[in-house]
Amino acid sequence: MTATSDIGRERQRAVYLGGVAGRKPLVPVDLSRLEAAARKAMTAEAFAYVAGGAGAESTMAANRAAFERWRIVPRVLRDVEVRDTSVELFGRRLPAPLLLAPIGVLEMAHAQADLAVARAAASLGVPMVFSNQGSVPMEACAAAMGGSPRWFQLYWSRDDALVRSLVRRAEACGCEAIVLTLDTTMLGWRARDLDLAYLPFLRGRGIAQYTSDPVFLASLDDPLPGAPAGAARVNLHSLRALAQMVRRHPGRFAANLRSGVARKAVQRFVATYSRPSLTWDDLSFLRGLTTLPIVLKGIQHPDDAHMAVERGMDGVVVSNHGGRQVDGAIGSLDALPAVVDAVGGRVPVLFDSGVRGGADVFKALALGATAVCLGRPYVYGLALAGEAGVREVVQNVLAELDLTLGLAGCRSVAEAGAQAVVRV
Ligand code: FNR
Ligand code: LAC
Repeated sequence: MTATSDIGRERQRAVYLGGVAGRKPLVPVDLSRLEAAARKAMTAEAFAYVAGGAGAESTMAANRAAFERWRIVPRVLRDVEVRDTSVELFGRRLPAPLLLAPIGVLEMAHAQADLAVARAAASLGVPMVFSNQGSVPMEACAAAMGGSPRWFQLYWSRDDALVRSLVRRAEACGCEAIVLTLDTTMLGWRARDLDLAYLPFLRGRGIAQYTSDPVFLASLDDPLPGAPAGAARVNLHSLRALAQMVRRHPGRFAANLRSGVARKAVQRFVATYSRPSLTWDDLSFLRGLTTLPIVLKGIQHPDDAHMAVERGMDGVVVSNHGGRQVDGAIGSLDALPAVVDAVGGRVPVLFDSGVRGGADVFKALALGATAVCLGRPYVYGLALAGEAGVREVVQNVLAELDLTLGLAGCRSVAEAGAQAVVRV
């Protein structure tokens, strides 16, 4: 994709001409139909995990409600024939102000999981943020992306040696930024998952960054930090869960079963996954580990954004984790203007939570976001049609963004400023 692009009309042409030849889009363009179709294609557990949020899911509703309150005010007669959707971020020119948000346990949506997403992202030049809870080791995804941009999202575990190792690996496989997610030091209270009594990690899913890590693997026989050793009840269900764990672990089934390594990996993951005791003072350790840009994800309060900049961080992501963590919280878009104010242009401000199309991207840009992360919608595309499904979903968002820019009277992302929206 070139800097100036006509991606909106190109996508329309492809879809409508396809229709003339009897072809429909691979995955629904309309977001509620996309979600409904994905629901049918996924297991109950997978859909609950992806679609669900914390508590009564009122934060998820607030994320959408915030988008409804901000409205675009189109301008006319501004020669929008040539438009430029590109932006620069950390020294890289991107085709659009869009990244793929880090999403864990993608194997629940599709067998090719992160690998399919990596290929789709690379085919469009859109950066993918590898999840710390990925289903495929970051090195394998990076290898599938050529020179296309990728970042790594870090969960800060109880083991600093593991943190160091993950950061080193991210650097070595060409990640261009570290996204430190701060809003998930514990998992939120997720009613859908609790009702199904299903947590993927306990089945050995979503821990591929750990089971491919030399420091993690070397620690498997160390005593577990602070974990009460509850005797597991053995029955048919627990045996099936054990088989799943063993199957998910790299290497041969029989050898893994005999050594007990898969179960040890899950237990160690559970015991070390994250460190709720983290404070602002810990950031200097990470700052000392890497010269890559460090971006703090999960920022909602302007004072936290201000502190992030003061502590030498290179960016923030205004995000409430898609409403998966705190129920009854502020809509993420409602948090954006104050954060943008507090940051005062010193570092980029990224945004996610509730983005469902190109018009949403436009609104976030108008409120001061430098770029936006797409979350659940691409997972639904993945569930329905693997790599091609992800590509279509992302293409659709890019196309709608391009058309919205032009139809609102803007020729570039820079022109999508505060004057382009009003709060109603
Ligand atoms: C996430 N998110 C997330 N964030 C992160 O930093 N690391 C992770 O591993 C995950 N995993 C994850 C799994 C699933 C199934 C979802 C839906 C989300 C949060 C993600 O990066 C992003 O903040 C949200 O998806 C944004 O909300 P919407 O727009 O998807 O509703
Ligand atoms: C989640 C974690 C993996 O939201 O970030 O499920």
